Amino acid sequence: MPTLFDPYSLKDVTLRNRITVAPMCQYMAQDGLPNDWHHVHYAGLARGGSGLVVVEATGVSPEGRITPNCLGLWNDEQAAAFAPIVESIRKAGAVPGIQLAHAGRKASANVPWEGDDHLPESDPRSWQPIGPSAIPFGANLPRTPTEMTLEDIARVKTDFVKAAERARDAGFQWLMLHFAHGYLAQSFFSPDANKRSDQYGGSVENRGRFLVETLAAVREVWPENLPLTIRFGVIEFNGHDEENLRDSVSLLKKLKDSGLDFLDVSIGFCTPEAKIPWGPAFIAPYAHQIKQETGLPVSTSWYISEGRQADALIRTGTLDTVSLGRPLLADPHWPYTAARAVHKKQPADVLPPPYGWWLNRYQ
Ligand code: FNR
Repeated sequence: MPTLFDPYSLKDVTLRNRITVAPMCQYMAQDGLPNDWHHVHYAGLARGGSGLVVVEATGVSPEGRITPNCLGLWNDEQAAAFAPIVESIRKAGAVPGIQLAHAGRKASANVPWEGDDHLPESDPRSWQPIGPSAIPFGANLPRTPTEMTLEDIARVKTDFVKAAERARDAGFQWLMLHFAHGYLAQSFFSPDANKRSDQYGGSVENRGRFLVETLAAVREVWPENLPLTIRFGVIEFNGHDEENLRDSVSLLKKLKDSGLDFLDVSIGFCTPEAKIPWGPAFIAPYAHQIKQETGLPVSTSWYISEGRQADALIRTGTLDTVSLGRPLLADPHWPYTAARAVHKKQPADVLPPPYGWWLNRYQ
């Protein structure tokens, strides 16, 4: 079995190790445009030694952003602004990836440090969210979305395709569609959020239709030699775990047949009532189960924060790569920290020479 620091190849892409940067919204954009903050942030993470840097949830349309300060990829100006960031990630030895997203009924929210709730309708920055049905998430996000028409569904699928084309042209090599966390795609799959009576609601097959069609349409434009991946919540922790997992496996098999190459396993987050058993690497066993049942290579994040723990998840074949969020905010050079923890020879070789050469000699 490989170790955390062995390369990982998928299609024509090779990650220098199995450590990947989870997408993390920065809420620092205006009009969806990446700026100096994003450039420094993502280049810094790439220099920190991770194999893959996945740029945060990026709206495929203005209405698809979570907040007014989320990134977007619905116009050419945004695509042009991403290109130098992609280049910096690549020059630092990491593979540049991006997560494309539509926030659905969770859209039009305040940034976390300004409330993490829906913007009031009276706020000029707010907009009307859309969803599979006119059912609000609840709790901090009480706004009722407008039920999408078939035209809306077709439009959003096209928005994903156009954003994928722009991501491709900007030089991204790893595409992740955000099908998780209660945003639009995940809410289509949720029987609690989706009460439609047409071909997009009801049975597992119908609730999965938006996801399958979107992925298949993106596959048409995303190069066959580059990984097309999703993040998907396979479980809600809503008291129906077995059913969630069974339905998820059936959907994922269809997605695999439609061109899905890799899965980041996550949580559904479609209900505020979920009872989530937070704990170290607690999603990893579900990820492994899904890997076995679908044959898809998998990663997951959620409380994987120690080098030896991450290495064990790879060595045991539980995961193909690990995805880290907060540990990399705390320490962008976490790969070096982990290399030391697993007693890798010349651990600072995971960093670029201007850092690594010194650290290998003076630690
Ligand atoms: C996140 N998370 C997240 N997930 C996602 O799919 N797209 C995103 O844009 C974001 N944004 C985001 C911002 C910030 C600041 C945090 C902390 C988290 C979830 C993230 O990718 C990851 O799954 C979680 O943070 C759990 O992993 P860790 O932090 O325990 O390693």
